[in-house]
Amino acid sequence: MAFCFNFTTKDSEEKSLNIDDILLEAPVSKKKKIEQVVTDFKEITVEDCKADYPYDLEVNTYQLTDSITVSCYDAGAIEEILKKDKDDSSSVVKATSCHSDLVPNVYEGGLTVWECGIDLASYVAKDVDFTDKMILELGCGAGIPGICAMLCGAKVVHFQDYNEEVLKEYTIPNVKQLNTDDDVKCTCRYFSGDWSQFSDKIDNEQSYDIILTAETIYNPDNYQKLHDVFTSQLDKHGTVYLAAKSNYFGVGGGIGLFEDFMNGKGKFSCKICKTIEAGVPREIMQLKWKNTNIDKQTEKT
Ligand SMILES: C[S@@+](CC[C@H](N)C(=O)[O-])C[C@H]1O[C@@H](n2cnc3c(N)ncnc32)[C@H](O)[C@@H]1O
Repeated sequence: MAFCFNFTTKDSEEKSLNIDDILLEAPVSKKKKIEQVVTDFKEITVEDCKADYPYDLEVNTYQLTDSITVSCYDAGAIEEILKKDKDDSSSVVKATSCHSDLVPNVYEGGLTVWECGIDLASYVAKDVDFTDKMILELGCGAGIPGICAMLCGAKVVHFQDYNEEVLKEYTIPNVKQLNTDDDVKCTCRYFSGDWSQFSDKIDNEQSYDIILTAETIYNPDNYQKLHDVFTSQLDKHGTVYLAAKSNYFGVGGGIGLFEDFMNGKGKFSCKICKTIEAGVPREIMQLKWKNTNIDKQTEKT
């Protein structure tokens, strides 16, 4: 079955991709390498990040509220640097050289700022109290919602992305820009790998007060993994804020389908907090435990 990916970027540029066609057209050597990449859980430290971008590298700024602005390196500019500096080992370069935003299970689109990431950051900047909270951003890419949480007084922010290169080349440099500001007192950690591994491998003693995630429900095959991370990692009084499109045409996922899935599991109550009207509407969903009379959940159902 063809795997299509049809997103609209923040620039409202339509992107319609058929990954099977892309892989069919790719040289045989490239296809083999794409299939071989392993996506184990791994902690990435700030020391692992060797990116040393020119001081004048293009930066994009996002004004979330009157007082909160997040800046982040321009993804296209970073892509150009990676193309020059990296050999065939770069999964991001491999994906972009196939003119692809996404290669399933290899590169899941982290080196782009997707519009629901901005929606989510704008929403939580106004409506959520992060003071002294422990935060996880799942599928962070640029990390704008997580960086927003840092600016809003979070005590701890953990950034997670499928792809370690995205964390090293994009997320960490974006956070590093911010750490020059002495007012931000927040401990950050970074984890790569598939969501299926996160809960078993993370060494947390405390569960997360808030889990943030944007543009991560396009693939219904991942819904059980997300449910399991929420179940095992969200504090019993915690909240998940999830931003996504109502439909990801050609892929099958979307807010309605995800809500049905979560309702079927019966553990979380789902509420749509905001709808952004557009050609493809975008929504912010809040999930809370239905039963708060529980200890941290460990079983997967
Ligand atoms: C479309 S990008 C969205 C990036 C960012 N949240 C934004 O809105 O700009 C999807 C993100 O989810 C992550 N992701 C997708 N599937 C994943 C999986 N199975 N395990 C871990 N991360 C995954 C990718 O690495 C990628 O960063």
